[in-house]
Amino acid sequence: MLHLSPRLFRTSTFRLSLLYVLIFGVSMIAVLGFVYFATAGNMLRITDESIQREMDDLQTEYHRGGARRLQNVIQARLKDDQVGGWVYLLVDNAYRPVLGNIPDWPVEATEADHWLRFVIPRGAHQYTMRALTASMPNGQLLLVGMDIRPAEKFTSTMIQAALWGAAITLALGICGGYLMSRNMLRRLDVLNRGAERIMRGNLSHRMPVVGSGDEFDRLAETLNSMLQEIERLVASIRAVTTNLAHDLRSPLTRIKSRLELVLTGRGDAEQLRHEIDYTIRESDQLLATFNALLSIAEAEGGAARANMKPLDLFEVAEDVADLYRPMAEDKGLNLELHGEGGAVVTAHRQLLLQALLNLVDNAVKYTDAGRVTIAVSHDAHHAVISVADTGPGIAPEDRARVLEQFVRLDLARTTRGNGLGLSLVAAIARLHGAELVFGGENGLEVKIIFTQKII
Ligand SMILES: Nc1ncnc2c1ncn2[C@@H]1O[C@H](COP(=O)(O)OP(=O)(O)O)[C@@H](O)[C@H]1O
Ligand SMILES: [Mg+2]
Repeated sequence: MLHLSPRLFRTSTFRLSLLYVLIFGVSMIAVLGFVYFATAGNMLRITDESIQREMDDLQTEYHRGGARRLQNVIQARLKDDQVGGWVYLLVDNAYRPVLGNIPDWPVEATEADHWLRFVIPRGAHQYTMRALTASMPNGQLLLVGMDIRPAEKFTSTMIQAALWGAAITLALGICGGYLMSRNMLRRLDVLNRGAERIMRGNLSHRMPVVGSGDEFDRLAETLNSMLQEIERLVASIRAVTTNLAHDLRSPLTRIKSRLELVLTGRGDAEQLRHEIDYTIRESDQLLATFNALLSIAEAEGGAARANMKPLDLFEVAEDVADLYRPMAEDKGLNLELHGEGGAVVTAHRQLLLQALLNLVDNAVKYTDAGRVTIAVSHDAHHAVISVADTGPGIAPEDRARVLEQFVRLDLARTTRGNGLGLSLVAAIARLHGAELVFGGENGLEVKIIFTQKII
């Protein structure tokens, strides 16, 4: 059952179908107009030509044999089996009929040599006539005409057909537009209701896909993949927040209990120094976590892109090597630097330096013996900076996982860290459009491959 709602008429579908009806109507009128002029109009023109020819013939007869001959000819034409739809009337200069098959000179015929249209009653019928008048040299007036009802009937049939056609087109157009709009609104309502449910907090709700593969299905599919991405992001933000809270709780609790101990005032000055020193180190660790999170946010935000400049990867590698050499040597590790200048890429210097520091920090931290190698290389299309160590490495099945925030593998439990280092490296690689590749058989090798054009 059609339920008429004003909403339907406001839909763009309905308006579009009305526009189509209008365009269709106008073109139909144009076609019918053309047909009319090609047929009915032509019929009338042919009628006029026949009348004109007949008038010319009769005038020729007059010129050949005068009024007598004209009357004879008309007389012959008036015979029933010849006359057909023709009318003739010859009147004298006082409009008194002399000869013809209509009783009176029509009032419409005011002047000679003049086209006219008039109606004569004949029995129960009305006859529409088209006629031409002419004055004869002797002062008589002649009217020659023809019944044009067939042509007129044809014309009115045409007009009726046009009107019916227009009415049917309009009705079908409105019905079609109505049905289409209703269907459209129904599908939109489903999407709207879905969106409302999601807004109320049910992020796992999905838009229904009918399976017709139409634009609504495609829209629903697009919305669904968008929702999936949003759900994933929300979940990861939630996980980060939870992890962060867990991560901060233990050091903060430790700081608190140490400070309470200090406050009770037991212990000598040396011990107090020791407690305060410990507290500062714990605070440093907390600050490092926050700094790492801020750096990840910076690398993931668009603003960092504005600060990219061409730089030589080897220079960055040299800085990092200089910074970490003492620490590596303390642990008995060899820190080696391979490569040469020339691998110039457009990069954010500070973030790239941070990424490399994180990799070398991990390499030094998790390697007990052997060496750590920083290497820079480049070819026509790629520039690669890599950090390799001779430590325990990361099993292939763990390599994707360690990129997540706060993820630390079991072996790392005894070392300091927050599990954000590699997340930051991954975010910085993404910022540079670079690929992050894990490798290495004995130990770990992490490569950052820049595919941008080498300057
Ligand atoms: N060079 C490495 N050798 C072995 N394991 C590593 C290495 N680098 C990282 N890992 C593993 O990946 C985890 C995540 O690294 P990272 O994000 O830097 O966090 P963090 O160093 O703070 O633990 C580390 O906890 C460790 O288990
Ligand atoms: Mg680390």
